[in-house]
Amino acid sequence: MIDIKFNYTNALNFVSEDTVQSYQQQIDNSFQSLYNKTGRGNDFLGWMDLPENTRDELIEKIEQLAETIRSKSEVFVVIGIGGSYLGSRAVIEALSHHFVQLKENDGPVVLYAGQNISEDYLSELLQILDKKDYCLAVISKSGTTTEPAIAFRILKNHLEKKYGKEESLQRITAVTDKEKGALKQLSNEEGYETFVVPDDVGGRYSVLTPVGLLPIAVAGFNIRELLEGARKMKNHLSGSTRIVTNPVSAYAAVRNALYTSGKTTEIMVNYEPRLFYFTEWWKQLYGESEGKEQKGIFPAGVGFTTDLHSMGQYIQDGLRNIFETVISVEKPGSTLTVPHDSNNLDKLNYIAGKPMSEVNHQAEIGTTLAHIDGGVPNLKIEIPEINAGILGQLIYFFEMACAVSGYVLGVNPFDQPGVEAYKKNMFALLGKPGFEKETKAIRKGLS
Ligand code: PA5
Repeated sequence: MIDIKFNYTNALNFVSEDTVQSYQQQIDNSFQSLYNKTGRGNDFLGWMDLPENTRDELIEKIEQLAETIRSKSEVFVVIGIGGSYLGSRAVIEALSHHFVQLKENDGPVVLYAGQNISEDYLSELLQILDKKDYCLAVISKSGTTTEPAIAFRILKNHLEKKYGKEESLQRITAVTDKEKGALKQLSNEEGYETFVVPDDVGGRYSVLTPVGLLPIAVAGFNIRELLEGARKMKNHLSGSTRIVTNPVSAYAAVRNALYTSGKTTEIMVNYEPRLFYFTEWWKQLYGESEGKEQKGIFPAGVGFTTDLHSMGQYIQDGLRNIFETVISVEKPGSTLTVPHDSNNLDKLNYIAGKPMSEVNHQAEIGTTLAHIDGGVPNLKIEIPEINAGILGQLIYFFEMACAVSGYVLGVNPFDQPGVEAYKKNMFALLGKPGFEKETKAIRKGLS
């Protein structure tokens, strides 16, 4: 039994049930291509089997290292970008306290680096690390990505100055390719503890490899439950591919139907701020997988009710090319009620005694209805609560739906050729050897 319900009733004013069902053959073909490994990008399907193929020895090794890191650090720095950090951050932030990442004496606070090239960001991180005991993981599948490479160079220097060469070696873990890339070569030379990103798992599908599992374990969360959740979802999806019974089929069909009808932007909505980075992870997964060959739904994200006071106007009244997918949490685990006030100057006594979660829930229903009235189809993913197992289910659900949707759209959901364009220009502008031709072209373009 899975804990996720997918409901698209509130999209049926915009696309008919017949139209949604007309995708069944394409959905079946997409599942077939994935299961038989015959579709585009079929050498990157290793993520499909991670829930059951992740060996116990690997899990134990991650857990043991996580314990060691937890025992000797106040801060754990995760260096990575894109798929090499968004998955772990999504899970860690979804499971952490909003204000104190972890309780006192309960392991390190996880901080992130290498996901930008901001000097201010890294300088301020170094100020914190001056005063804290810390360990770091440098995560890069290719081992050659500029942003994490710069951050690692700077943090490695800092670590060596602070602890000396010998001790700093014990505080660095590398997660990278099994043989290729500069990071692998450096790890071999220095003797860092190393984990492998499997060849057949792309960055944005890698959260259930050591890329995500190590930081999540260091943060103190149960990676076995996460994997078990993914396993449950995999088993559930491996039955029928019918749109009526399979939530991945239904989500993939309805979002493609909406896209074809002109709804070219999908907004992922949450009502729980702890899901902010889950939305960021989802945006990368869908944006990099589908946005190519001049096609693809643009994935956006909002957190309500916060963003109802910034983006609400646009969603209600702006260009009608959007639809929403809401992650609706049934029981956020709060029992905080609105207090009675004898003066009632704020006129809130009509909700006195109600749990805040109920107020939030009614805000969700009211917003959904308003948006449907305003021409915004609404898809709903209901979960009973946020825990590691349910996050595992959600991760596998969205990965599978992304692959199926991408095949229905007719693209390769496992490559990202467009990401190279900015790099080429940046390398040329910075004078990287080998980019002389591009430098000339850019200079001409700029003049
Ligand atoms: O999904 C992807 O492949 C990318 O977003 C990568 O994760 C990202 O570019 C980081 O790459 P790497 O892990 O090689 O440093």
